[in-house]
Amino acid sequence: MNKLTFIIGILLCNICIAQRTETLLKDNWKFSKGTIDSAFTNNFDDSQWETVSIPHDWAITGPFDKENDIQRVAILQDGEKSATEKTGRTGALPYMGTAWYRLNFTSPKLDDDQKILLHFDGAMSEAKVYINGKFVGEHPYGYAYFYFDITKYITTKGENTLAVRLHNEPKSSRWYPGAGIYRNVKLIVKNKNGIAHWGTTVTTPFVDNEIAKVVVKTNTTGTVDKVKTEIQTLDGKVISTVESKVKFADQFENTLQVKHPQLWSPETPYLYKVITTTYKNEEITDQASERFGIRTISYTSEKGFELNGKQRKFKGVCLHHDLGPLGIAVNKAAIKRQLIIMKEMGADAIRTAHNMPSIEQLELCDELGLMVVAESFDEWKKPKVDNGYHRFFDEWAKKDIQNLVRATKNHPSIVMWSAGNEVPDQWGNEGVKRAKWLQDIFHKEDPTRPVTVGMDQVKSVMENGFGAILDIPGLNYRTHLYDEAYEKFPQGFVLGSETASTVSSRGVYKFPVEEFKAKKYSDLQSSSYDLEACSWSNIPEDDFILQDDKSWVLGEFVWTGFDYLGEPSPYNEEWPSRSSYFGICDLAGIPKDRYYLYKSRWDTNNETLHILPHWNWKGREGEITPIFVYTNYEKAELFINGKSQGIREKDKSSRLDRYRLRWMDVKYEAGTVKVVAYDSTDKIVATKEIHTAGKPHHLKLEADKTTLIANGEDLSFVTVTVVDKDGNTCPTANLPLSFKVNGNATFKAVCNGDPTSLEMFHLPRMKTFNGKLVVIVQSKYSNGTATLEIKGLKTGKETFIIQ
Ligand code: GAL
Repeated sequence: MNKLTFIIGILLCNICIAQRTETLLKDNWKFSKGTIDSAFTNNFDDSQWETVSIPHDWAITGPFDKENDIQRVAILQDGEKSATEKTGRTGALPYMGTAWYRLNFTSPKLDDDQKILLHFDGAMSEAKVYINGKFVGEHPYGYAYFYFDITKYITTKGENTLAVRLHNEPKSSRWYPGAGIYRNVKLIVKNKNGIAHWGTTVTTPFVDNEIAKVVVKTNTTGTVDKVKTEIQTLDGKVISTVESKVKFADQFENTLQVKHPQLWSPETPYLYKVITTTYKNEEITDQASERFGIRTISYTSEKGFELNGKQRKFKGVCLHHDLGPLGIAVNKAAIKRQLIIMKEMGADAIRTAHNMPSIEQLELCDELGLMVVAESFDEWKKPKVDNGYHRFFDEWAKKDIQNLVRATKNHPSIVMWSAGNEVPDQWGNEGVKRAKWLQDIFHKEDPTRPVTVGMDQVKSVMENGFGAILDIPGLNYRTHLYDEAYEKFPQGFVLGSETASTVSSRGVYKFPVEEFKAKKYSDLQSSSYDLEACSWSNIPEDDFILQDDKSWVLGEFVWTGFDYLGEPSPYNEEWPSRSSYFGICDLAGIPKDRYYLYKSRWDTNNETLHILPHWNWKGREGEITPIFVYTNYEKAELFINGKSQGIREKDKSSRLDRYRLRWMDVKYEAGTVKVVAYDSTDKIVATKEIHTAGKPHHLKLEADKTTLIANGEDLSFVTVTVVDKDGNTCPTANLPLSFKVNGNATFKAVCNGDPTSLEMFHLPRMKTFNGKLVVIVQSKYSNGTATLEIKGLKTGKETFIIQ
């Protein structure tokens, strides 16, 4: 029996308001893989088990192995007709099978009128939960929010044992789903006569510059006879307070005003908070605080999408839930870094594809200013993979949507729900009914936001009515069908719910430079000239043209912001490809060239002037080596070693010259590439140079931050670049490096962005890929300093403050 008792007093995020305590169950969990019959019982000996902290992903430490997820299948949604051997489809990581987590804890003394809830933000997957040997409940969907009232299972006299069994079937996902209790788990102790779990709903049905009407509905449990609602600024200034004793069944409704409201938008992510207090016989029984934003959204055939009355198009990216080398374990610092990289590119929205977003992701989108399309499922009743969500659809879909909406509805960043992605139910009448059924559940839970589905079977959904019943018809790819869909669908607009799926590997360039579909090379990489896509997908321009020329297109969500584990198209039959090539950034979060193509359009506040490819082509002297420039300027001149290669100007009439400047007949000679951008009066407005690099000389380290919070989970991402003696990036250097962290931080992971690398992320050594990699350093709990030391070339060092 494990004598280590987890005391509820270890509060890492302890919100103590009135009678309520919320305790994150973070550290000292015991973990073991395998089907262990009696692991749910109290007297089970788990002393030999591994001690882990939650959030946790048991599979990310690998090792990568072809046998982990080898499949013989036809991927029907990719248009394949016959089965072939597929490898790396789910990341080639060992996420399958059964595992157990156990935690001993001492419950606080509960008064008669108190109860205790056990809340999960998500567990991957098929969770079965036991307290003190008794089965409490289960929740199969790995991305769903769920909770149980565990009052009757708890003893307040001594130690309690929480045991969680998880199980992942093979062929249960189309990407790396990860494995484990990968999101937060908390205990909530509260009065029985108080606010129901997820019981606060804030809406802003009237907003103008003068005043906003804020309606706060409070669902209650037990006996509550009064609810006080107070709106405050985040720093606690009271703006408006209303009390009500009128109860409709278990619900109270308070309407409050905010004068001269500060509106939430991606540009001004202003937040307020609402404090709800419940009373029984004039005594406070419960109190909770919830953040919200004041904003309006509307979708009309006349004006498309409007936020706060202003028309705009989504500049969005789809994001998978994994955090690259960190796997799926939720980490706020890692999510924040991803979102900031996207914001800096000029993106204003994300689609959480194809899963329910984490609370941390939503909180950050609220704070940083990113709109969210919150998705729910990749499968309904008809399968895409043998053991996918279709097994649970009938019994769980309604519950899963309810929990999603109830848990996340007050986040102003969410501007649309998505009921599904490319579900095979797009075929046939049953699917149309399912679409309506699911949309109705969303509407009932949340009448303020519309519902979309990402559709790829566009011909079918035009025929059978599936597309017509949706609030927002979302098209995945199929750029050639936009016009027809707009004509046939009644909504008067179309959303690019998933776009591009251009493939590229960071720093890899292939010759001759041509547009290709499903092009494969012997090194299992794709070209960063950004002209390669899959059979179903397209290059970015095809979407840009629709966005720019059709007023009724609501915007786009590019597949994807970052490479992710699994789905290594076009190399899903070629080992060792094990992660995607679709990202605008690689798996380490390093921008590929495409980042600057999107930035040149989306980031209207800053200059973009980016040259590709790199200029280290020993052996290509005299050979045609085209140069592309991604820029927000209309016109530029290119010089190689001072010799002009001519001026190029963006050309609206040419698909490939409308958004990029291309010099297709440049001959390679080592030296300097310089681009000079001009404005319409031919005045020089910007210049940029790249140089042929010499031999690797030292390492350049760039940390995204050097001061970390001493909370055992804050992260610094250090981008390491191999440079020559003059500081030029060595763009072909693949050098083995090793890492050591001393002091009050630890080495967490490393990633080089190579989709074919089998080096493990958690081991402190890795080769650079095309001159770069990213090392991740994690803070410990105590204040002090830490140093990252990198060996392999002249030693690189970075120092951190942990506080
Ligand atoms: C879409 C699908 C995504 C991903 C993408 C790759 O059809 O929705 O999940 O598979 O293709 O291009």
